[in-house]
Formats: sequence, structure tokens, C-alpha cells
Amino acid sequence: MRLKEKVAIITGAGSGQGKASAKLFASEGAKVVIAEWNEENGKQVEEEIRAAGHEAIFMKTDVSNEENVRNVINQVVERYGRIDILFNNAGIGFSARSKYTMAPLLETPLEDWNQILGINLNGVYLMAKYTVPIMIKQQGGSIVNNSSLNGILGVTGADAYTASKGGVVALTRVMAVDYGKHNIRVNCICPGAIDTPMIAEVLSVEEIAKNYEAGPLGRVGKPEEIANAALFLSSDESSYITGLIMPVDGGWHVV
Ligand SMILES: NC(=O)c1ccc[n+]([C@@H]2O[C@H](COP(=O)([O-])OP(=O)(O)OC[C@H]3O[C@@H](n4cnc5c(N)ncnc54)[C@H](O)[C@@H]3O)[C@@H](O)[C@H]2O)c1
Repeated sequence: MRLKEKVAIITGAGSGQGKASAKLFASEGAKVVIAEWNEENGKQVEEEIRAAGHEAIFMKTDVSNEENVRNVINQVVERYGRIDILFNNAGIGFSARSKYTMAPLLETPLEDWNQILGINLNGVYLMAKYTVPIMIKQQGGSIVNNSSLNGILGVTGADAYTASKGGVVALTRVMAVDYGKHNIRVNCICPGAIDTPMIAEVLSVEEIAKNYEAGPLGRVGKPEEIANAALFLSSDESSYITGLIMPVDGGWHVV
């Protein structure tokens, strides 16, 4: 019970890494808020967690919509009185290609650029903007941001996505500096290729594994492996860690 009695908001918890994290956090004793814009998936995860005898609630959330974010945070505080953990995990990537342009910048229209940054980067800003004041009142909290290897390496092919994830890395560092004095820790995970719907639509696990042959572990990651990292950074076990940019990528970043 590494998160016993803690209130944890996980954005994008209806699928992939967020879903794996919601299940793991709940099994470790957290009251999990599934902040997800896909109603069907969010409700499904809520049901699965409750069926396993743990606590979770789905709250429909679009992280890029300020009013919506403010309402959700207010509801969480009304219900639980506090927020101990915020896992900013929601994001759109390669699987959103039918809706947004995922391409080098010369081929990226401004509108698509703004939409992608609006979710992946502004979403982190907005969730933090309304959660940090609660954590300041409590004098404590842990925020984990989900960036990407794209945030630290020059991965080509989706420049708006890459810029948004670089922004998340920079925002993590400055938030760690700004709010450390209130005992708020802010850390960041940079996943490599993880087997979730985000990449499944684009490349098969086999094709990705081929691209990753040069990586030390030579395989694609599982969503549960990101959830484990998020659990560690969210829990008191990492109480002296803040501002960390942590690749969870089978060692790809050192090749
Ligand atoms: N899968 C990978 O290989 C990979 C690699 C590096 C980083 N990431 C990052 O990991 C995070 C989780 O992605 P995943 O792989 O689990 O993909 P996923 O597509 O399975 O899950 C993303 C979830 O975020 C939700 N979401 C998207 N926009 C939202 C919004 N505006 N408001 C609320 N919810 C929203 C989606 O509905 C979905 O449930 C993302 O930030 C992604 O960029 C993924």
C-alpha cells in the first residue's frame, strides 16, 4: 500500500500508460481520479478498478480546456478535500494523425501546431495551475509529467509533438524550482516506444522492435513499466527527488 489514502489525479487514464497507472495506483491504496476526455474508456477503467475492490472515479476532462480543468479540480477538492498526486499523462501523438498533422515543421500548419501544443503542453500547464495552489495549502504534493524521448532527443517526423514534449521537460524543471519550498516535487518521465494504442495504429510492435534493435534492451516497453516509474515518483519513496527527467526507454537514450 505505497499510496495508502492518497488522492491521485491521472489525466488520460482511459487508455495505455494512464490506464495501467490508474490500476496500479488504486491497487496501492490511492483514491484515483480518472481525468479523461473519452467517456467510454474512462468509465470502463473506473468499473474495472471498482470491480477489483479499489477506489476510482471518472471525471470527464479535456486538459486543454481551462474552464473544464478548473471545474474538475474543484470537484476533486469538494469530494476528497485534497490532492496528493497529479500524473499529467494525457497526450496526443502519432495515433492522432488522421486529425492533426504529425510531420516536420515545414509541413505542419499553424492550426495543427497550436492544437497539439494546446493538449500536450498547455494541458500540463492548466492542470498544474489549478492543482498547485491546493498542494501549496497542504504544503506537499507530487507531480509527475509524462513527456517522451522526443522531449530530449531530436526524434524527427512530428515536430509539434516533439516541441510540446520538450516544453514539458522544461516546465518540469522550472516547476521543481518554483514550488520545492512548498514541499511539492515535480518530476518527468520520458518513455521510449511503449506498446499502447498511441503507436499501435502506426507501427506494429514487431516493426518498432526492429527499429529498436540497437537499444540496449532491444524491445518495446509495456504500459505497466511506465506505471511502475510513475508510482515510484508519486510515492514517498522518492521523497528527495525533484526536477528529475527520467527516461524509461530500455536504454535507447544512451545509444
Ligand atoms: N506510447 C508511446 O510510445 C509513447 C512514447 C512516449 C511518450 N508517450 C506519452 O505517454 C502519454 C500516454 O500515452 P499512451 O501511450 O498511453 O497513449 P494512449 O493514446 O493509449 O493514451 C492517451 C490518453 O490520453 C487521452 N487524452 C488525449 N487528449 C486528451 C485531452 N485533451 N484531455 C483528456 N484526455 C486526453 C486519450 O483519450 C487517451 O486515453 C502521452 O502523453 C504520450 O505522448 C507515449
